[in-house]
Amino acid sequence: MKVITTVEQLKQELAPLRLSGKSIGLVPTMGALHEGHISLVTRARRENDVVVVSDFVNPTQFNNPTDLATYPHTEEADRLKLEEAKADIMFLPSVEEMYPEPDTRVFNLGTVAEVMEGEKRPGHFNGVAQVVSKLFAMVEPTRAYFGEKDFQQIAVIRSMVELEGFKLEIVACPIVREADGLAKSSRNVRLTPDQRAIAPIIYRVLRASLEYAKSHSVAETTQWVADRINDFPFMDVEYYQIVNGDTLLPIESWEETNHIVGCVTAYCGDVRLIDNIAYCKPQNA
Ligand code: PAF
Repeated sequence: MKVITTVEQLKQELAPLRLSGKSIGLVPTMGALHEGHISLVTRARRENDVVVVSDFVNPTQFNNPTDLATYPHTEEADRLKLEEAKADIMFLPSVEEMYPEPDTRVFNLGTVAEVMEGEKRPGHFNGVAQVVSKLFAMVEPTRAYFGEKDFQQIAVIRSMVELEGFKLEIVACPIVREADGLAKSSRNVRLTPDQRAIAPIIYRVLRASLEYAKSHSVAETTQWVADRINDFPFMDVEYYQIVNGDTLLPIESWEETNHIVGCVTAYCGDVRLIDNIAYCKPQNA
């Protein structure tokens, strides 16, 4: 595996491969790689001739300076994991390399970027669109891989791709979980042992809500999920919304769509965790 730190070298490396018709799979990451990321790399490896993994903590998508300052950097461990997963290129640029000039672009990403995380983290999705559009322009991938834990992010990236006219396939990959159900996240290492023991309650409640939803309305289910999670120590739900999985707008009744997703953001202590679950339309709805 090659570790490349400059855009010029990255382009030089990829141009002949692209010209000879090789497919290129890109896995954008912010490093601190865990099994969730590696599952994306493994899938990209299976589906492409060349696999590029970017490892870049993108400052423009952090609306909270403490979150940026405390974001884990584990480049050497990341490199070893990517070698093992048989990536071809690890792209490890500096902030100056990615942003030689401040990126002042403002993307009109539509309502998918305005609700939920868009509302709670102003500017976050614009920063994601900035860095991902730069990566797409540099790598010109055939396919790019993203985890469904960041369900809204995938919708936002699809919107950016349409806006910018990128020709590639966005591949959404299933959430990878710890044995106790907690969604794998680079933030999990910041949980204290006591918090780590409680955090799987998020997914346990989401799962239980699939049953609860069969005999309750969307509003009742929404409230029930937030209340059940908040029953536990350390837990504080920032929002739980049951949305149309295409528009990301909240639904009012189970009949509205077949694509129904419940999206949660909850603090466990001061660690902000997100997760989501798909609902089947209840039979009697
Ligand atoms: O999901 C992430 O890790 C980041 O938002 C991404 C897509 C790598 C952009 O920095």
